[in-house]
Amino acid sequence: MPPPPLIAGNWKMHQTPPQAADLAAKILELLPPNPGVEVLLIPPYPCLQTVHEVLQGDPRVALGAQNCHWEDQGAFTGEVSAPMLKAWCQYTLVGHSERRQLFHETDDIVRSKLEAVLRAGMRPVLAVGETAEERRLGQTHAVLARQARAGLLGLPLDQLLTCTVAYEPVWAIGSGAAADPSDIAEATAILREVVEEAASGQAPAVRILYGGSVTADSAAELLGARGVAGALVGGASLKAPEFCGIAAAVSR
Ligand code: 13P
Repeated sequence: MPPPPLIAGNWKMHQTPPQAADLAAKILELLPPNPGVEVLLIPPYPCLQTVHEVLQGDPRVALGAQNCHWEDQGAFTGEVSAPMLKAWCQYTLVGHSERRQLFHETDDIVRSKLEAVLRAGMRPVLAVGETAEERRLGQTHAVLARQARAGLLGLPLDQLLTCTVAYEPVWAIGSGAAADPSDIAEATAILREVVEEAASGQAPAVRILYGGSVTADSAAELLGARGVAGALVGGASLKAPEFCGIAAAVSR
C-alpha cells in the first residue's frame, strides 16, 4: 500500500503563537474525520509547542519544523537543533529555496541538516527546485538531479524510506504562476530516478510533493500530475478553508 498523499502547510515567518493556535484549531475543525490524506503543519519555531498542544495528538495532523541546525548541540547562538524539535515534531523541512538563496545553504549544508533530522528520529522533507534563470538556461534537469542526489545518495534504505522530496520551482513560489502539470510530471520523474538510484534500483515508497502557488482551485489539476504524492503549500496554508480545500481536492 503506498502512503496516503501528504499535504504540508509551510507557514514560513507568519503567525504569532496565539494566531497559530487559532489557525491550527480552525484546520482541525474543517478537516473531515477521515481526511484521506496526511496533513502536516509546519509553523515557525516559537509556535511549535502551542500548535502541538492544540493538536493533542490528533492522528489526522502531523507537526514539522521549517529548519534545524546540522549539529545536535553547541555554541551556535540563535540556532535550533533537531533533538530540540523532536519533542513536538515528526518532520523537519530542509533545503527550502528561501534557505538556499537567502541564507546561502549549499547542497552540503542541506545534506548535513537532513542527516541531523534522521539522527533525531524525525522524517526529513527535502525541498529542491530550479530558479527561473536555471530554467531559462535549460538546467532544470541537472539542478534537480544534483540537489536530490546530494540529499539522498548513500542513505541506508530504512532512512531513505522516511524521506519525502518536495519539488518547488523557485519561480512558482508565491508568484501565483504554478508550474504546468506536464513540467511537474517531468520533474517528478527526474526525482524518482534519483530516489531509485539511492535505493540501488529498488522503487521505494518515497513521496514526491509539488509546491509553488498551489490553491484549493488548482490542487486537483497540479497534484494529479503523474508521480505527485501531495503538496507543500505556502500562502494558501495560512487560510484554513483554503488549506483544507487543497486536502479535500486530493483526498483518496
Ligand atoms: P506558495 O504556496 O506561497 O507559492 O509557497 C510555496 C512554498 O514555498 C512552500 O514551501
